[in-house]
Amino acid sequence: MRLISFVVLLLTFTAQAQTLSVKSPDEKIALTLSLNNNSLTYQISYLDIELIKPSKLGLKFVEQPALSAGFKVLDYKITSRHERWQLPWGERKTVIDNHKSVELALADGNNHRLNIEFRVFDDGVGFRYQVPEQKGFDQVEISDEITEFVIADSAKTTAYWIPARGWNRYEYLYRTTPLHEVDRANTPFTFKNGAGVHMSIHEAALVDYAAMSLDQRRDGVLEADLAPWYDGVKVKTQGGFKSPWRTIQISPDAVGLLNSDLILNLNEPNKLGDVSWVKPGKYIGIWWGMHINKYTWGSGPKHGATTKNTKEYIDFAAKYGFDGVLVEGWNIGWDGDWFFNGDVFDFTKAYDDFDLAELARYGKSKGVKLIGHHETSGNVSNYRNQMAAALDLYQKNNVSQIKTGYVADGGDIKRVDDQGIVRQEWHDGQFMVSEYLHNIKEAAKRQISINTHEPVKDTGLRRTYPNWITREGARGQEFNAWGNPPNPPEHTVMLSYTRMLSGPMDFTPGIFNFDFDPNKVNRPQTTLVKQLALYVVLYSPIQMAADLPENYLKHMDAFQFIRDVPTDWQQSRAIAGEVGEYVAFARQQRDSDDWFLGAITDENSRTLTLKLDFLSPGKRYEAQIYRDGDKADWQSNPYDYVIEKKQLTNSDQLTVKLARSGGLAVRFKAL
Ligand code: NOJ
Ligand code: CA
Repeated sequence: MRLISFVVLLLTFTAQAQTLSVKSPDEKIALTLSLNNNSLTYQISYLDIELIKPSKLGLKFVEQPALSAGFKVLDYKITSRHERWQLPWGERKTVIDNHKSVELALADGNNHRLNIEFRVFDDGVGFRYQVPEQKGFDQVEISDEITEFVIADSAKTTAYWIPARGWNRYEYLYRTTPLHEVDRANTPFTFKNGAGVHMSIHEAALVDYAAMSLDQRRDGVLEADLAPWYDGVKVKTQGGFKSPWRTIQISPDAVGLLNSDLILNLNEPNKLGDVSWVKPGKYIGIWWGMHINKYTWGSGPKHGATTKNTKEYIDFAAKYGFDGVLVEGWNIGWDGDWFFNGDVFDFTKAYDDFDLAELARYGKSKGVKLIGHHETSGNVSNYRNQMAAALDLYQKNNVSQIKTGYVADGGDIKRVDDQGIVRQEWHDGQFMVSEYLHNIKEAAKRQISINTHEPVKDTGLRRTYPNWITREGARGQEFNAWGNPPNPPEHTVMLSYTRMLSGPMDFTPGIFNFDFDPNKVNRPQTTLVKQLALYVVLYSPIQMAADLPENYLKHMDAFQFIRDVPTDWQQSRAIAGEVGEYVAFARQQRDSDDWFLGAITDENSRTLTLKLDFLSPGKRYEAQIYRDGDKADWQSNPYDYVIEKKQLTNSDQLTVKLARSGGLAVRFKAL
């Protein structure tokens, strides 16, 4: 490595500070690094607007002295990249990676080395640490990450967030507050400053490290806060390790955040080779019935996962074009309070009334796959001990997708360590980050895709491991069955600007019956059309039609949209919206000329005028429009909808009224 003094390399230099600035390819975002009193800070601006004030960088260790001050620059490299790459499945086929990068090699007063790499894109900034292999750093325990995000204009900044490190993991209601009211927040952490610039802090490529949440110290000073191991250490690793990327997505408007590919661009390319066996698609399942108490997971007269019920679901799936049937509660271990059954689940033994081999055969004859299910109730050692056999069993039975579950309070994942001692871990601590990924890799060996519930948050690893097909990681539809309170009207709008920035979500839309609760408390707080719109708005390569089959039979005309909507896209564009108020997405079906549009609103009714300039110029389309009826209202009249057809082109506009907590779903069929 060249040993050059920082001074020579700097664009500007004063006696007190040495600084280096790099701009995004479109020159709107500027990243400035400053070596000031020998500690390194970064700051970010957008055009002339200061976004992130000088913020500290560095790491603290249990054994070694901190790497945070006394730095000199050994070397640096500025490079740029502009290339296209493809997603095997996704919200778009082609992704553009256009950025400038700065790689800094630093040494501190002890001559300990730290490398930091920054990438500046048109849609934000990412940076990560690397501690090179060096004397005294064979075994490394990180006690704290010093990384700061000091928000400029913090007094005028509004934050949209959920708390971190709580018992309910990521399943909290979103809060809209002045930035100063945030204490410890989960990421993606979205906020808007006084000038209307929208930002979101998150991370990319979380592998073999602890997840980061944000702890607000002084007003506006957010500090990286890593989920600890049972013993308080944050990360246990070796010299040579890299941290995940710390990311700041930046956009002059709300929808720009939704069109950002920054997180994916910062992940490693596909490591699995040919993944044509990973199949996007739609599914139904023996699932909602349990959540609304029609069925039970455990054995008995209301057992849902019976051979008979499953055959009926397979018949329905075959008739209406679904690819899979999820069956929960098929394996031994659910009886009693399954929340606490982590150590009794048997992942290879079925209840007597469930015949896996027969159902695999029956499904095959109808062109429908069973979707597997492994609930661990948070005892990951019990699952780990059976994982290989459990995956083998499913592979043998033609199952190529499994939903996993890790229901346990935050900080209460149970594992048995090498000495036989039970340890409690966080879902997003380093131990579990590796445990989830182990499951993904084992599944990949058997060409099985995984849909993780109660997951660690997504950080774009689907690029590297495309069989990590989707996950939960926020309040899903299930909260509308039993949540106290159920998801409020703004919830799914909030998800778009927060949780969804991290990646696909198995929200499980499509509830058509709002009257299942005798107490009239639980129900989706939406119109029926909003349930349709969710298929377009909340991206996932696998989407469930979550309701009971009989409820679809009552609204066959509206059900048609769920049958038609694809789950794999050529391109996607958020075309209108404001955080927490409304959002509209247009998505083009993969390898097709057809487009789909979905729009949803919060508790306010609103009329949207949407330009259709996303459609191919010169083509005519039949727009099959599913909209709220004139009297629709989520509370008093959720079932009122209108389905109409119009011929439209890309020079047209569509003006549609969305009811309170209503929606709009359109299929544009190319003529
Ligand atoms: C939690 C999942 O999110 C839910 O969908 C599932 O039904 C239960 N675990 C039982 O496994
Ligand atoms: Ca859940």
